[in-house]
Amino acid sequence: MSPGQGFDPAALASEPPQMTEALRRLEAICPQFRQSDQACACRPDGGGCHRKLSELLADLMAFLVDRFRDEELAMKRWLVTVVDPRASSSHIEDHADFTAALGGVIVRLDTSPVHDLLCELDGILRRWRAEHFPTHDQYLAALLERLAQPAGRGA
Ligand SMILES: [Fe+2]
Repeated sequence: MSPGQGFDPAALASEPPQMTEALRRLEAICPQFRQSDQACACRPDGGGCHRKLSELLADLMAFLVDRFRDEELAMKRWLVTVVDPRASSSHIEDHADFTAALGGVIVRLDTSPVHDLLCELDGILRRWRAEHFPTHDQYLAALLERLAQPAGRGA
């Protein structure tokens, strides 16, 4: 049995390829951005940095909005919000923080240096990988797996 149409809770247990791909695309935009604390030395958008960053942000926001919605629907359908309300609200708050942080980068696309936005997005992706995924998503995956087991099993 599956907790939500089109949503596979087992997929929560492993890092989604879209996030690995986002980090790879970020590094491809400007391989040196972590080595410099200043605006990049390349010509303004000579390498299409702004366009590539804009496309990456759009793809990332689309992916995360869908994923966060699926996770939150699964939490409600399987009563995770009742079984563990504290973890659920912390998880949902973290989704909102990520959406806001990503939105904050998107709204500054035309006003802030690309280098600054790359650094900020790098921090967002790394925080997702180091904190959100292992803390919230993997916990939710384990809980959904337990809840999906027939009564009397897995105790
Ligand atoms: Fe999550």
